[in-house]
Amino acid sequence: MSTILVTGGAGYIGSHVVKELLRQRYQPVIYDNLQTGHRQAIKNAPFVWGDLSDSKNLKETFQTYSIDAVMHFAADCLVGESVQNPLKYFNNNVKNGIKLIEIIEEYQIKKFVFSSSAAVYGEPQKVPITEDHSCCPTNPYGETKWIFERVLQAYHQAGLFNFISLRYFNAAGADPEGDLGEDHSPESHLIPLVIKAALEGTSVPVFGTDYNTPDGTCIRDYIHVTDLAQAHILALEKLGQKNFSGIYNMGNGNGYSVREVIETVEKVTGRKVKAIESPRRSGDPARLVASSEKIKKELGWIPRYPDLKTIIETAWKWHRNHPRGYDD
Ligand code: UFG
Repeated sequence: MSTILVTGGAGYIGSHVVKELLRQRYQPVIYDNLQTGHRQAIKNAPFVWGDLSDSKNLKETFQTYSIDAVMHFAADCLVGESVQNPLKYFNNNVKNGIKLIEIIEEYQIKKFVFSSSAAVYGEPQKVPITEDHSCCPTNPYGETKWIFERVLQAYHQAGLFNFISLRYFNAAGADPEGDLGEDHSPESHLIPLVIKAALEGTSVPVFGTDYNTPDGTCIRDYIHVTDLAQAHILALEKLGQKNFSGIYNMGNGNGYSVREVIETVEKVTGRKVKAIESPRRSGDPARLVASSEKIKKELGWIPRYPDLKTIIETAWKWHRNHPRGYDD
């Protein structure tokens, strides 16, 4: 059985990947400082409380468990915060990531899966976005993801390990079995916020209604978190092959506007949502839609929950049962 170190494994995407790893008979070991993750999201797997900056603790984790591969989710990931406090992002997402690679080198780990982001592209020149689209991040968060990808690339070219970087578009939804869900504090993502508004009868701001899109609101490509998790397993399998590294977009190739998301939440929940037309949020590209043909072709990825309604149904099920998140 392969043992996989999952940094940030108690977070939203990390915990869904851990569940999938267990289902497919891998042995995940979670390393997380619980700053944004939840201890309750981790069941049936060893958990080490620790910060990425704590190399001693990390090394001890590598010593205790015989690690075969690393999946690296732990990161700061709020675009707005990265603009206000860029050093926090360069320190954690780049500097601490490099410290992790130093340990990986010491322990001769050869397989690495990295959580990257559509934020590496910045404002797209064309959609759907393919992996060869130019990278021109418009905020420090995207910058850190792109820098780290280049570190990985250089490290791979030096013959030191293989990596796969998955560039997530908009991860959404919840574990269809209802065990796991999205619980950020504060929440900034559209789907959980609209669901919360439906549940509590509160309102949700629509950031910008004057974009050059059919209904004037931003378009995003929502991907079910369990489909995303499945791609990580495929990546791990692929890294078993000699001298392979790759970068893949993770989306469904379907764009939905903010208004369409609100309408779909209304349909799924049977409740009316009060939407307040608000100014644009700075740094939001009008349209982000992925081409994920490359991962389908090369890794055989087939999404099971590609349509927005199903994605929202799974999220709704979780939020309805956990109105206070993991505290319920
Ligand atoms: N939005 C609203 N109202 C809200 C929240 C969001 O109108 O209350 C809009 C946003 O302006 C955006 C869309 O809904 O147009 C989606 O916003 P999210 O915050 O849910 O997601 P983003 O597209 O901003 O962010 C995602 C990832 C980030 C990543 C970014 C890349 O969550 O990690 O894509 O641009 F950095």
